[in-house]
Amino acid sequence: MDGRLLQQGTGGRRIIVIATSIGAASSASMLNSANFVLYNSAQKIIWQSFDYPTNTLLSSHHLLAGQQLLSSISESDHSTGIFRLKMQSDGNLVQYPVDTSDITPYAYYASGIDGWGDNRTLNLDADGYLYLLNCTSYNMKNLTNGGYTTTETIYLMRIDAEYTTTMEDI
Ligand SMILES: *[C@@H]1O[C@H](CO)[C@@H](O)[C@H](O)[C@H]1NC(C)=O
Ligand SMILES: *[C@@H]1O[C@H](CO)[C@@H](O)[C@H](O)[C@H]1NC(C)=O
Repeated sequence: MDGRLLQQGTGGRRIIVIATSIGAASSASMLNSANFVLYNSAQKIIWQSFDYPTNTLLSSHHLLAGQQLLSSISESDHSTGIFRLKMQSDGNLVQYPVDTSDITPYAYYASGIDGWGDNRTLNLDADGYLYLLNCTSYNMKNLTNGGYTTTETIYLMRIDAEYTTTMEDI
């Protein structure tokens, strides 16, 4: 394996290189958290899918400052659609159309807690609790209350192909 990882779009019509130049991977693992991880021969993680968010946040996955979720074109076509939800480095979580700059006139939604410190993260717990933490793990805002059943249920947060951001159980 040369360390290149390819992702194939629906109907085989689009192939995107999502990782290159990561060194030779000697093993790969799909973790229970749904993180897909490549290790080198020293068992060090050299690439993980959680570093490349798509349209979905899973529990134990954190959306880091500067990262964004991108909506898909549709339920069946996971190519990049028209919305993005960005964890800005100013601490605000904002939804914009794709291909705009990060400025207020383009925003559809904002968590409204910018300017109070940077490096916040968006986090989802196994019980559906969705919240923003600052870099010293202090809870800055609750987006859902959580406390939903975890029996045979996995929660995810997804930016929809259409207007809203939803939380579903699968
Ligand atoms: C995180 O928030 C808490 C409470 O507002 C604050 O005391 C702490 O300094 C913040 N951490 C950073 C790094 O800003
Ligand atoms: C969010 O909810 C938790 C648990 O109920 C609570 O401790 C925390 O203070 C809440 N955060 C904010 C910013 O209200």
